[in-house]
Amino acid sequence: MQQRKWDYSVLIMDLSPRVLILCSLLYSVAGQAPVVSVVPGAATVRQGESSSFRCQVGSGAQPVQLEWKRANNQPLPDNAKIGPDGSLLTIANARPGNQGQYRCVGINSAGRSSAQAVLNVKYAPKVRVTPPGPLRVRIGEAVSVDCQATGRPRPTLSWKRQGSTLQLVTKETNDVNTIQWPAVRPEDSGVYTCQAENNEGMTEVKVEIIVEGGLGAPVATVSATEMTVVEGHTVTMECQASGSPSPVITWSKLRAPLPWKHTVAGGVLTLTSVGRQDSGQYICNATNIHGYSEAYTQMEVDSPPYATCLPDQVRLQPGDALRLQCLAHGSHPIQFTWTRLGRAGMPAGTETTKDGRLLIAHVRQSDGGTYKCVASNHIGSSEAVAKVTIKA
Ligand SMILES: *[C@@H]1O[C@H](CO)[C@@H](O)[C@H](O)[C@H]1NC(C)=O
Repeated sequence: MQQRKWDYSVLIMDLSPRVLILCSLLYSVAGQAPVVSVVPGAATVRQGESSSFRCQVGSGAQPVQLEWKRANNQPLPDNAKIGPDGSLLTIANARPGNQGQYRCVGINSAGRSSAQAVLNVKYAPKVRVTPPGPLRVRIGEAVSVDCQATGRPRPTLSWKRQGSTLQLVTKETNDVNTIQWPAVRPEDSGVYTCQAENNEGMTEVKVEIIVEGGLGAPVATVSATEMTVVEGHTVTMECQASGSPSPVITWSKLRAPLPWKHTVAGGVLTLTSVGRQDSGQYICNATNIHGYSEAYTQMEVDSPPYATCLPDQVRLQPGDALRLQCLAHGSHPIQFTWTRLGRAGMPAGTETTKDGRLLIAHVRQSDGGTYKCVASNHIGSSEAVAKVTIKA
């Protein structure tokens, strides 16, 4: 390029100096990237207002094409409009998210350049309270509620209690204003308001705190906190509740539905013909407007053993090993005893174990017969037999 420009100068050397200067000036403009600027460089609007920026081309070879972008190369928001010649950017009905930098890029055959402008959007605070109300807490519990707000300029936060002018103790860290009680009392019940204020406006969010367990709150009691019953029997569990107004009593079972054969009447839960699977924790829940109270009954269902022999028939040759296992389900502990029907004692060398096994390492012809296992626990007993045949 530089070289060609020199050539031109030589070619037109015989022309007057004025013409020469003009020609070389035109040539250098024609080979130049655009120079753009944006006016105004910064603008501040309120939420809902509009703002425009104009991109001006100072110099550079024509034609210059103009493009608008967000500074981070994100696409323009959907409320941004660009005028027909590309120079005018208008943000209509500005939102808080429109705040930021906008970049105008000028492009021609020689290159590109850009200039930026900043849009500030002021807005009234937006407030968020966590956890949101209403908050039901038990008397004596620790409670804390966080209030956070966004807004421009940055809002100031405060907590107030409805119907009270008393100063509340709050804590502010990292733009979160927290109201807290190490242990709530019934008189702390009420409506609390978090207020966020900046010069665009004031916003508040209310949270209701209900302290349960005060005067009139239910207190449930069960007639027995633990009970052990025998399989097949009918069980009743009683629950009484104090409180005003008179609490409503419901029964449930921990992590399971109530047994199929149950009835509830006047706070009494009746389970007919209980099985082992009905063992577990039963919960009485007494509820009124002041709160609720739970009381628990742990029930165990005991069952007599039910025994089986494994195998229940076996054929062996003299010298083989005899292995029998007595199995039983029912409430623990279960004891096992082995006998041989019609014989006074067990063959010599018979070993038995606590968990119901019987072993004869080398059987003899005379060891055949019927072996009986009796499984017993504190409820009852059950027996099972195995037939042992020994043939040479
Ligand atoms: C007892 O009732 C209260 C209020 O209705 C409820 O929040 C709670 O989960 C209940 N408890 C059980 C174990 O069902």
